[in-house]
Amino acid sequence: MTEDKRIVHIALPSTGEPEWEAVRDPIMSGWLTQGPKVAAFEKRFSEMHQVQNALATTSCTTALHLALAAYGIGPGDEVIVPAFTWVATANVVLYCGATPVFADVDPITFNIDVNDALSRVTDKTKAIIPVHLFGLCADIDALRAGLPTHVKIIEDAACAAGAQYKKQYAGGLGDAAAFSFHPRKSITTGEGGMLTSNDTTFSDIAEKLRNHGAEISEEQRHAGPRPYLLPDFNMLGFNYRMTDLQGAVGLVQLDKLHGFIEQRAEWAKWYRSELKDVSWLRCPEEPENGKHAWQAFVTYVDPDKAPFSRNEIMDKLQTKGIATRPGTHAVHMLDYYANKYNLSVNDFPGAKLCDENTMAIPLHNRMELEDFKYVVRAIHEIG
Ligand SMILES: Cc1ncc(COP(=O)(O)O)c(C=O)c1O
Repeated sequence: MTEDKRIVHIALPSTGEPEWEAVRDPIMSGWLTQGPKVAAFEKRFSEMHQVQNALATTSCTTALHLALAAYGIGPGDEVIVPAFTWVATANVVLYCGATPVFADVDPITFNIDVNDALSRVTDKTKAIIPVHLFGLCADIDALRAGLPTHVKIIEDAACAAGAQYKKQYAGGLGDAAAFSFHPRKSITTGEGGMLTSNDTTFSDIAEKLRNHGAEISEEQRHAGPRPYLLPDFNMLGFNYRMTDLQGAVGLVQLDKLHGFIEQRAEWAKWYRSELKDVSWLRCPEEPENGKHAWQAFVTYVDPDKAPFSRNEIMDKLQTKGIATRPGTHAVHMLDYYANKYNLSVNDFPGAKLCDENTMAIPLHNRMELEDFKYVVRAIHEIG
């Protein structure tokens, strides 16, 4: 009996009526830019992640840039980044005129290889950006233990809203952390980000830099006794403010975060059990002493055992209507970085393996049992 072909997306945002209703307020009030909704979103996000300060931004990329700028990182400074990550993690270092120094990754966890990262520390190292890739926290304690104390740890928590490391939430593990609310993340505001920290001096600087370097925010100015006076500007800032429309959506999404993760964790477990007999496919595990946020379910296609290459397998699944993606890319293999720093593909063997063999399979909160069964069946049919 032939079964009906299904379309299974790699990710779909779970937005609907409540988000639609939520934007009514700002639209009707006319306060559209950063205002009360963003403030409430920041407050709830920081409470949920048990971190003191949270600043909403236009994206995770701008939150990362803001963090480096607030630490005064610039020309002559080095920042260590994993070689297997979304390109933005490295780009933000260049935005500041500093130098990204790549470190290899562990092909099992896909996260930064701590020993390799520590071996790359020099007198110029000012910060490191460990990435909690796909929602699994990097080993922050091991990094902290080996790093000189002045080196700032900026978590790239783009995929890690709600993730935990040793019972502590992402966002307060390092000196600062940046989250993403792009639609491929578990919760979304269309585009958007959040910069968290327990260091209030840092957050105060970042808050000003987010708004052109203004001494006080627009909201404070409007609520103050002399709203007609423009604030002073004593630093070179940016406009990285989130809109209140996004803040309103973010508040609704945040209420769903834990439920989304629970549901994804259940399906991740189900995938692991249903796919355990596929000898050429390694599935991601739940960490022993933490909580994966399951932004994506990224498998590893063993090139020595698989009947076809990773790309051929992706092609076969696509033909059946099943979307897959490489986990992400090895930044040192991208033309821009390879040419700029004269890098060779074998400089970071772990990142190269991940670039060539990782495969995200569909996992999101709008999938149904039949979708999951369809994906598993199609993978088994490959061989
Ligand atoms: C690891 C990582 N860092 C940074 C980013 C950038 O996030 P945004 O799109 O919100 O700027 C992403 C986005 O996919 C990411 O996966």
